[in-house]
Amino acid sequence: MRLTQIKIGELTTPTNVFLAPLAGYSNAVFREMCYNLGAGLTFTEMVSAKALCRGSKKTEDLLYVTPTYGGLKACQIFGADHDYMRRACESEALAPFDIVDINMGCPMPKIYKNGEGSELLKNLDTAAMIISQCKKSGKTITVKCRIGVDESNYVTAQFAKMCEDSGADMLTVHGRTRDKIYAGEVNWREIAAAKNAVKRIPVIANGGIFCVTDAEKLMVKTGADGVMIARGALFNPWLFAEITGRDAGDKRGAVLRQIAATRETMGERFACVYMRKLAGFYVKGKTGATSLRLKLLNCKTTQELEELIADIDF
Ligand SMILES: Cc1cc2nc3c(=O)[nH]c(=O)nc-3n(C[C@H](O)[C@H](O)[C@H](O)COP(=O)(O)O)c2cc1C
Repeated sequence: MRLTQIKIGELTTPTNVFLAPLAGYSNAVFREMCYNLGAGLTFTEMVSAKALCRGSKKTEDLLYVTPTYGGLKACQIFGADHDYMRRACESEALAPFDIVDINMGCPMPKIYKNGEGSELLKNLDTAAMIISQCKKSGKTITVKCRIGVDESNYVTAQFAKMCEDSGADMLTVHGRTRDKIYAGEVNWREIAAAKNAVKRIPVIANGGIFCVTDAEKLMVKTGADGVMIARGALFNPWLFAEITGRDAGDKRGAVLRQIAATRETMGERFACVYMRKLAGFYVKGKTGATSLRLKLLNCKTTQELEELIADIDF
């Protein structure tokens, strides 16, 4: 695909292939791994602006950044109250981040019932106020949205223009409606409509990229400036190397290093539960994947995981 840098406000990313925010998965170690494989920008999972303002330790832990991380740092926040959102942007907890992304696409009822996430697709005035207030914090502000709540009412072009007019520095469009959650075809026409509706800011296309050809196709069909990969990265973080033409390196070694680093930063219990699930994704499509996944899920410690992984050909 056409590889470029991306200018986001005053910042420049090394590639236009990004790792998506992924609740439960895009932790500091995974983000660094993807960055080193070629992801030009990586995002933390979404965190609540309100919880940040209230000093929640659990929320702050989700924002941990490894000291060796080499790239621009982006986090994602959600909320519907512009005051909390701005205060979150100005908080100490977000000080390490160069970019704050605003979640305007989350399809989970517990989020949108509070007017947050994808509910903002229906409330352009509230969304505009949130962006302009966050922008006052002096941070580089980006937005991630969907194309509408359902297919009877696409909002993409109007929403994209509103984001740009309100001061957003980049827009990522997940080309599905809220009611589809993560299933179904990606509507590349709507992503193209967002790209055509803005003049100044880059538009990133998201949805359904699982191989190099998918990335290439989405770029060509939408005319977007770059792509963002979510589930494709969980199955194959080396996809970033494949798309950007980097050497993927020793995959088994990388998984073993990932286990060790996750254990070091997040503790044995978390590392074991998280890595046996993620390694289960990594083996998808391999011969004997089902029995391998079962063996991975039965590992009780990271040491057992490491012993099993030492025999897997990734
Ligand atoms: C497990 C999981 C967690 C997600 N968490 C977030 C999140 O925290 N913030 C967000 O904006 N999107 C989140 N998403 C949506 C993805 O970022 C992405 O928009 C969506 O999965 C479509 O991309 P894909 O087809 O490449 O997976 C999540 C998706 C999944 C599957």
